[in-house]
Amino acid sequence: MIVHPAIRWGPEKPRSTTPELQLSEACALVHSLPHWRVADTKIQKVKNRGGFIFTKGQLEELTDLLTSRTDISAVFINVDVLKINQVAMLQGAWKMPVFDRYTLVLHIFKEFAQTREAKLQIALAEIPYIRGRLEQINEGQHDHLTGKTHYVVSGGFKFTYIQKREALVAERERRLRGELEKIKQQREILRKNRIRKQYPTVAVVGYTNCGKTTLIKALTDDETLTPENRLFATLDVTVHQTLLANHLKVLLVDTVGFISDIPSSLMDAFSATLEDALIADVILHVRDSSHPDHVAQTENVVDILSKLLPEEKLQNMLVVNSKCDLISDSESTPGLNISAVTGTGMDELKKSLEGAITSSTGRVRKTFRIPVGGDHLSWLYRNATVLSTTDGEDGHSYLVETIISTSAYGKFKHLFSKRKKKS
Ligand code: GTP
Repeated sequence: MIVHPAIRWGPEKPRSTTPELQLSEACALVHSLPHWRVADTKIQKVKNRGGFIFTKGQLEELTDLLTSRTDISAVFINVDVLKINQVAMLQGAWKMPVFDRYTLVLHIFKEFAQTREAKLQIALAEIPYIRGRLEQINEGQHDHLTGKTHYVVSGGFKFTYIQKREALVAERERRLRGELEKIKQQREILRKNRIRKQYPTVAVVGYTNCGKTTLIKALTDDETLTPENRLFATLDVTVHQTLLANHLKVLLVDTVGFISDIPSSLMDAFSATLEDALIADVILHVRDSSHPDHVAQTENVVDILSKLLPEEKLQNMLVVNSKCDLISDSESTPGLNISAVTGTGMDELKKSLEGAITSSTGRVRKTFRIPVGGDHLSWLYRNATVLSTTDGEDGHSYLVETIISTSAYGKFKHLFSKRKKKS
């Protein structure tokens, strides 16, 4: 059963979304787990999410409902993180596991992580949670139903018990960080190779399930990609190569989707993934324009990105509205509307990508007049994107149209300075 505590008023009340939309996202989260199903949902109006969240009356009502139903085996309270005493009290009253967004998303991550790096990141994401739990054990738990406070462990034993576990947690964190560091160093080498090869990179970012993988698949014809209608289908960074219309070879980086109301420590686990977004030449933000909550989703993504990206990169970010085949023209949002399924707007997107890449990477369009024979042409093929070659009118030269980086252009001039060129 999903219970969404909706705050009635005050600064904690979310402005750009509704309890119904938040509840529907909570349902999608649960459905993304194999064999999990939502038996019932409830929007419960609350003053705030502190204390024990629910009033005594609300709690009794929920307890009556849950204890009378045989088809409910767990409860998901749709808040970012519950305190240990809240979980203990609710589990004690309902005699079933209670999840918050943190534990549920962690569960999803664990279910679907494939690479060693993603698995390590998830294990690391759990550490602050475990540490927080240990700290809260110190504070004791208040039983809302009986009005008593009690401790999980007590006396001198409590002290050594917690100390021992804190030491274990610290040791585990050290080990995980060490292993992740090794993988990061390998990634650094890959990244340097990529930069050296001068392939421009585009990081595709967006809210989970907005259509990033489908878009990359449409741009690359990569049959190995399998988009899924499930939140967090992509947990690992994957890189895909494509050729734009001007023959510019580009690497598209698929990233983990964003989600609102998740403690930053959980998303921090994926910061290594997002670092790829930071070094990309262009950031492509995909917004699911067909989603009823797309305004709040966009705010969430921009909010996270603004903490990670320099202002300049944020300003130059390309934004596209995806899945436009699912909405009517009157519902469409201003900007570039695309559908990776029907192909609408894809040519325009490719052109925008070309423009953004050429300007952000300092590439320029240049036409060279080079002599027939000699190694100019093969050099240009190796170091620039050759768009076309035509015979010069004098019969002794070629006209070669290219997109070339300013550094490669400099090298060309230096190497072949005595030769005639036209640009
Ligand atoms: P995460 O990995 O969870 O972040 O998802 P994602 O952003 O990579 O989304 P994905 O490409 O997996 O697509 C999610 C769902 O939306 C899939 O069921 C896709 O088939 C569907 N979808 C994506 N693009 C379009 C589109 O242009 N039109 C329609 N109708 N459906 C789309």
